[in-house]
Formats: sequence, structure tokens, C-alpha cells
Amino acid sequence: MAVARARAYHQVADEPRVFTDSLALRIVGESGSRANEFDEDLDQDLARRRRLFISARSRFADDTVAAAVARGTAQVVILGAGLDTTAYRNTRADVRFFEVDHPDTQEWKRRRLSDTGIAIPSSLTFAPIDFEQSTLAAGLAEAGLDRTRSALFLWLGVTMYLTEPSVDDALRYIAGHGEPSEVVFDYLYPVSSTRHDPAAQQQQARVDGVAAVGEPWLSFFTVDEIRSKLLSFGFDQVQDHSATQLLATYGIRTNTRPMDSGPHLIHASTL
Ligand SMILES: C[S@@+](CC[C@H](N)C(=O)[O-])C[C@H]1O[C@@H](n2cnc3c(N)ncnc32)[C@H](O)[C@@H]1O
Repeated sequence: MAVARARAYHQVADEPRVFTDSLALRIVGESGSRANEFDEDLDQDLARRRRLFISARSRFADDTVAAAVARGTAQVVILGAGLDTTAYRNTRADVRFFEVDHPDTQEWKRRRLSDTGIAIPSSLTFAPIDFEQSTLAAGLAEAGLDRTRSALFLWLGVTMYLTEPSVDDALRYIAGHGEPSEVVFDYLYPVSSTRHDPAAQQQQARVDGVAAVGEPWLSFFTVDEIRSKLLSFGFDQVQDHSATQLLATYGIRTNTRPMDSGPHLIHASTL
């Protein structure tokens, strides 16, 4: 809900808007047009930067879906979908969408879709999977993903909630797809050990905050670690964007922070 609220509030609060989502406000209900109470403990610059990064990663995902579909990819898998609306905004009946999520979250989303009158398109298949308990291979085979046809995987705002072995298993599965595959995902750079860096102190406060509500961040990677992991699993191309770089791509300048700190967005593909 916190990230969906960020996308919703972005629709009304930010200029320029980097991400346009016709369902962002509807899926969260009327609270979406107000500032996010999940951000109350953050300073305003950090709250804005966080909202913009969440919106920019969805914009990047939307653009990647459009480019992949234009090249002929007809399967899009959204891992840890939460209240993502991509599948409900799709206008191509010949592109199949799969939403993978923890069974509890998926059940909650389906109730929200029904409560807010958002129709489930026939091109969408739900796959309830707990990444820590079962494999993507089994869950997506059952859902009907065709491993002999290319696929795009979107995995936004999830890796930090998983253990490193579960992150590795999912990336190996994507790299091992029978036909070209690509993945867009974000990860967190380790919190700086410089105790007097205000950005590091704020990130540490966030780490403590999510742990306190029972959804701790478990995985952090440096740029080199994640790149070598992806190459060793079989990805051929890896693009890594720090939050600062990604926002600059969309013409957004935020208060400067160390270039590598905070979240990063990856686009990796096999040939
Ligand atoms: C911060 S939300 C991001 C949701 C969505 N991708 C977005 O950007 O709005 C994290 C998502 O990861 C999912 N998740 C966390 N741990 C999981 C697990 N062990 N198995 C499956 N999904 C998990 C949650 O259910 C939730 O949908």
C-alpha cells in the first residue's frame, strides 16, 4: 500500500510527472490524493525523492514492456506484484500477463480490485507463490508460462524483502528461460558505514522502521556484487542505474546524495 500510495500521490503532486498511471489513484482509494502517512517520519526531500524513485522505476518498467512487446515478446511476468496496475492498463489482448505474489498479498489485492471496480482482464493469470517456500519454476509452470517463448519479468520493490538465496534462485530461473528473457528489478545498496552522513542516517532509520513493522529488509548489494552475480547466472547484458541517474534520465534533479547510495534499478537480459 505504501508504494501504491506513492504512485498515486505522484499523479497529483509532482511536476513534471515521470509516470502516468490511469489506475494509480483508483486502486488505493481516496487516500491516494493525500501525502503518504508512511512517509511521516521522513524529511520532505527524502519523501519526495522516494516517491519519485518509485514512480520512475514504474515508468522504466512501462517503457521496457512497450519495447519488448514491439519486438514480439508476448509474456510479461510481474513478480511480487503488490498493487501494480500494469496488467490492468494493457490494451494488447495477445500479450499474456502473470502476477506472482505472496498468497496473502494476492488475496488482498483481489479484494481491492473487486472493491474498486477494476476488472481482471482475461489476459491475466494469478500465480500465488511465496518466494521463500516454493520455486518460481513450479508456480509459473502451473500458471502456464511458456518457457519456449520470450518473456519479460518485472520485479519492483521486492528483492530487499528476500533472503539472498531466494533472490539468486529467482534470477537463475529468469536467466535459464528457454528463449531470450529480460528482467527489470531494483535492489538496495548497503547502508553507508559513514555514521555522520545524513543520507546514511536516514536510510538506517528506514531499515529500522521496516523491521519494526515486521517486514525487514534482508538483502543489500553493491554494484559489482549484483553485476557479477547476473553475469555468472547467464545474463548477457546488464544496465545499472542509481536512483540519482534514473531520475536525471527523466529530467528530475534531487538533492545530491552519494551517487551509489540508496536504491538502484537494473535491466538485465539474455540474448
Ligand atoms: C514493496 S511491495 C512492492 C509491490 C509492487 N511490486 C510495487 O512496486 O508496487 C513488496 C511486494 O513483495 C511481495 N513479497 C515480499 N516477500 C515475498 C515472498 N516471500 N514471496 C512472494 N512475494 C513476496 C509482497 O507481497 C509485495 O507484493
